[in-house]
Parts: sequence; C-alpha cells; structure tokens
Amino acid sequence: RWSPGNIITDSIARVREQVGRDNVLLGLSGGVDSSVVGALLHRAIGDQLTCVFVDHGLLRQGEGDQVMETFAQHMGVRVIRVNAEERFLTALKGEVDPERKRKIIGRLFVEVFEEEAAKLQGIRWLAQGTIYPDVIESAGSRTGKAHVIKSHHNVGGLPEKMNLKLCEPLRELFKDEVRKLGVELGLPREMVYRHPFPGPGLGVRILGEVTKQYADLLRKADTIFLDELRKHDLYDRTSQAFAVFLPVRSVAVMGDGRRYDYVIALRAVETIDFMTARWSRLPYEFLDLVARRICNEVDGISRVTYDISGKPPATIEWE
Ligand code: XMP
Repeated sequence: RWSPGNIITDSIARVREQVGRDNVLLGLSGGVDSSVVGALLHRAIGDQLTCVFVDHGLLRQGEGDQVMETFAQHMGVRVIRVNAEERFLTALKGEVDPERKRKIIGRLFVEVFEEEAAKLQGIRWLAQGTIYPDVIESAGSRTGKAHVIKSHHNVGGLPEKMNLKLCEPLRELFKDEVRKLGVELGLPREMVYRHPFPGPGLGVRILGEVTKQYADLLRKADTIFLDELRKHDLYDRTSQAFAVFLPVRSVAVMGDGRRYDYVIALRAVETIDFMTARWSRLPYEFLDLVARRICNEVDGISRVTYDISGKPPATIEWE
C-alpha cells in the first residue's frame, strides 16, 4: 500500500543497496525535487552525501539562506554553498535577449557545479531529482519547454567526465508523491508546497539586461506580494505568483516631489498543467494593498500593474 512512510523505507533500502559505501554528490537547487532527494539520501547514507548548492544570485529573497538553514544547520547535511552572484551578473552584463540569457545562466550553472565537483575526492555517484514525468518527457524526446527546463539543472557531461553513476531515487514518483515524501522526511511544508520557480530564476523576471540593482528591487517587491498572498490565504489558491521587473520608468508624484521610477508587474495564475493558464481573479482590495505596499516600501518603484493575460497567448513567465 502506498504511504509516504513505506516509500521512504523502501527507497532508503534501495539507495543503500545501490551505492553501498560509496560517496554521492547532489546538486541542490532549492527546488522541491532536489530538496527531497537531499533529505532522503541524508537519511539513507548520512555523511556519504555531499551537496553542492550553486547560488547564482537570482534567487528570491532569503532563499539561499533558507536552503543552508534547512539542510546544513537543521539536518546536518554536508552542503557546499557557492556564492556565484558576481560571476553570473558579469556573464549576463549587456545581454538582453531572453534565450541567450537562459543559455548563459544554464551554461555557467553547469560550469560552476562541475568546478566544485572536481574539487571533491572519491565521489562515485551523481544523484538527481528526476521524477516520473521527467522520465516520460525524455523518453518521447520532445523538445518542448519541460524538456528544456530540466536540462537546466542537468549536469549532462559530468557523469562521463568524472566517471559517475546515476542515482535517481524519485524516478517512479509523481510530484504530489514527492511532496508527501518531503513532508514526511521533515522538510518545511512551505518549501515542499512552494510554487514552481524557473531554473534561471529572476534572470527571466527582469526584462532585458539583468543588474544587481534591478534584482534587489524585484526581490523586495516579490517578497511583499508573496507575504501578502500567504497572509490572506491566497498562496495555495494560485498555482504560481510572482513579481516581474520592467526596466521602463514612469512619472509619479510622491509628497512634494516628482519621481521617475521603474514599474513592477504582478503575475498570478491558476493552472493544472502549466501548458495553459488563467490569470487569478485576485480580489481588488488585495491588489490594492499589495500595490500600495510596494510603492511605499520599495524605493525606486512607483507604479504597479497586474497582468491579465491568459496563456495562450502569453506565457506564464514574461521571458
Ligand atoms: P511558461 O513561461 O513557458 O512557463 O508559460 C511554464 C512553466 O515553466 C516554468 N519555466 C521554466 N522553468 N527553466 C525552468 O526551470 C526555465 O527556463 C523556465 N521557463 C519557464 C515557469 O515558471 C512555469 O511554471
């Protein structure tokens, strides 16, 4: 009978049998799948697991610290955090094309991960958060977005280069099962039931060139939006919600002064499969509150818009 407890016991036994006394490497991204693999492997093989967490500086507010707190501090997992913000920002400098931005981020991500991996001794396995839908997706070898999505974290060349074997303990599970497993393994509910977040992170939510200034403004606005959604019990009623930074400026008056500031767009959608989506009918009063808070609290933003485009034609992300 399926129960998270049974699956855990079963997976632990299988992992132990599979890797024996070998050391295992895992790329932790902060996402649900890799987090659950991390928690599961830690329980199964303890110190034989080493995680590398590449922080590209395009995460949401506090997210990098939260990963470290959950895994390193609370669970005692060996996690190497690589602060690569500078490197990513430098590589992205002047780049405005969405696909090229994605490529730069994806390539550098793999590069940094591989550099760290190369410093480690005696690793025999690479663990990955592949889940059942990913397996299906790849089998059909379609070139749709979902396929591209996974390839972002997919350190494809590493297994051959370092002569690693693949350990994919979630290969037979669906997302909702992975989530239940995560909760059972003691991961924070908030982490396990979080909205999806794209691999390139805020890199595709800052339109055009990515700068530290834009990323900081976006993080502040995004945090306000998400905090209020949680506070108003709306977070779990939207499938994905986030702020987008528009590098255009508009005129505003605040106090006695005229301001010429950037714009934030809010996006919230409801969807089952993320292939089509409907914009969330968030209450006007709620949107009003969020817009006010963003304009008052984020210095540099003086206008907020709400995205009422469905998918199709508009994709969920703006880039
Ligand atoms: P779109 O914008 O195509 O997004 O409607 C559909 C879902 O996919 C996510 N997404 C990505 N995830 N890397 C990812 O890991 C990406 O490059 C990427 N682009 C979009 C998006 O957040 C949404 O959940």
